[in-house]
Amino acid sequence: MMITRKKTRFILCMLCLFLDALLHIEPNWSPLFTGEKVSFICDSGEGNDTDWNYSFSSNDNFFTTNRTVNRYKSSSLTRGDSGEYQCVADHKIRPVTRESNKVSLTVSDPRPVLTVSPSWTSPGDSVTLTCSVEPPSAGWRFFWYKAVPDMSSTNTYYNFELLAGGTNGTEQDSYILHGQTHTAGYQCRAERGDPVFNTKYSDVKFVWSGGVNPAASLTVSPHRLQHFSTESLSLICEGNSAEWRWKKADEDGNRSLCPKWGERNGSTCNTDTRASSGVYWCESETQFSNAANITIHSGDVILVSPVRPVTEGHSVTLGCKLRTENLLYNVDFYKNDKLIPNPVRGELLISAVTKSDEGFYKCTGRKSPQEAASSSVFLVPLVVGLVSGVLLIILLLLFLRRYRKSEGEIFSF
Ligand SMILES: *[C@@H]1O[C@H](CO)[C@@H](O)[C@H](O)[C@H]1NC(C)=O
Ligand SMILES: *[C@@H]1O[C@H](CO)[C@@H](O)[C@H](O)[C@H]1NC(C)=O
Ligand SMILES: *[C@@H]1O[C@H](CO)[C@@H](O)[C@H](O)[C@H]1NC(C)=O
Ligand SMILES: *[C@@H]1O[C@H](CO)[C@@H](O)[C@H](O)[C@H]1NC(C)=O
Ligand SMILES: *[C@@H]1O[C@H](CO)[C@@H](O)[C@H](O)[C@H]1NC(C)=O
Ligand SMILES: *[C@@H]1O[C@H](CO)[C@@H](O)[C@H](O)[C@H]1NC(C)=O
Ligand SMILES: *[C@@H]1O[C@H](CO)[C@@H](O)[C@H](O)[C@H]1NC(C)=O
Repeated sequence: MMITRKKTRFILCMLCLFLDALLHIEPNWSPLFTGEKVSFICDSGEGNDTDWNYSFSSNDNFFTTNRTVNRYKSSSLTRGDSGEYQCVADHKIRPVTRESNKVSLTVSDPRPVLTVSPSWTSPGDSVTLTCSVEPPSAGWRFFWYKAVPDMSSTNTYYNFELLAGGTNGTEQDSYILHGQTHTAGYQCRAERGDPVFNTKYSDVKFVWSGGVNPAASLTVSPHRLQHFSTESLSLICEGNSAEWRWKKADEDGNRSLCPKWGERNGSTCNTDTRASSGVYWCESETQFSNAANITIHSGDVILVSPVRPVTEGHSVTLGCKLRTENLLYNVDFYKNDKLIPNPVRGELLISAVTKSDEGFYKCTGRKSPQEAASSSVFLVPLVVGLVSGVLLIILLLLFLRRYRKSEGEIFSF
């Protein structure tokens, strides 16, 4: 049996009917982000590209393209460009039409999210910043910034400086800060693609330090972390600056300034009873002060604990205070919810703090033996720093130098 040329063509064309065109999207990132550009490429699956005409559709609506070209380059994508895309190839001579597969395209707003760990540091700690782009996708380079106070601004924004070595960005989505000492704010953004597509900047995230910063220091009066809602607080800023800003970050990270919740008088901000729970700190042109995580309580009992973190080797006294009177008849202290046997009524003294004392403390109080126990849960981290150890060595060295010098002077007499 002879198979003619005509027959072969016929058989091939029977097969052709079952062949599909193929639609590619370049780059094939998913999701894509608003502002990015993509190319749609239609492959007829047979012969020379130029043998075919092409058309492209989105959600079954054809859009205008140059039909002789198998490639369509989008303009900057918007969220409305999300949808199902398909292409159709028509042979220029033969009456053959091939539809492609459907490719779904999702365009969303990229949101860089910065996390900092730990969020409270002791001097000398390393801090890890991690930047992730939501929703997750590949191909990003990350840029890292440090917040610089802007005293001319009347809102809570900052200026930003690129962190060292970050001019070209990093491929890694994390950045390690060694020897973090003071409170600082950070931000990140990401970019990818050619032409380069930039995300917005992330929210500012803070690494808090409760430790001493002589150049900028916050003092809270009364001198404790917990306060009754009926109390007025004084937030005093001191250090190398004539001008201060008082800032507060609530649990959602929303920042506000002293005029929102207090009256300014010199370098003090008095809150009346307008303070609410949050982290408070001071800012000068160049510095961030120590921060204090203040809790405002509407209940009857508060735990009295120092505003500054307690450093190793130092003593600390925790107390329990009633709204109506100072002295509590009967007080129990708990660490991590376990009752601490305590022979001294009314207060808890830890004479030389060690790392093992770190934890969440609370107290429960009773006004009189008759009265039902009115208990309260308070969480207070007792941060143990290395500062005393390091400081001791520095002081020792200074002392030795001085001692040597005076010794020399004595001998020269
Ligand atoms: C496709 O056709 C064009 C002109 O019709 C020709 O220049 C080109 O070399 C062909 N390409 C291939 C791969 O056959
Ligand atoms: C379509 O594309 C071809 C090849 O790039 C070009 O020669 C032609 O001018 C284009 N036609 C239109 C209407 O833009
Ligand atoms: C292919 O497209 C061109 C340009 O749009 C058009 O002139 C031509 O008629 C089309 N051919 C077929 C077979 O559709
Ligand atoms: C950044 O990139 C430029 C050009 O690509 C290069 O010359 C420079 O060394 C890079 N800088 C760093 C810190 O990698
Ligand atoms: C931050 O505060 C603003 C204005 O008070 C409010 O609209 C917004 O919802 C707050 N953001 C968060 C995350 O709570
Ligand atoms: C500001 O504080 C000073 C003393 O610290 C006080 O004498 C003065 O009355 C205060 N001013 C206001 C407006 O409260
Ligand atoms: C502040 O303290 C509260 C209560 O102990 C806690 O839930 C919150 O996470 C703390 N905030 C920060 C920023 O550490």
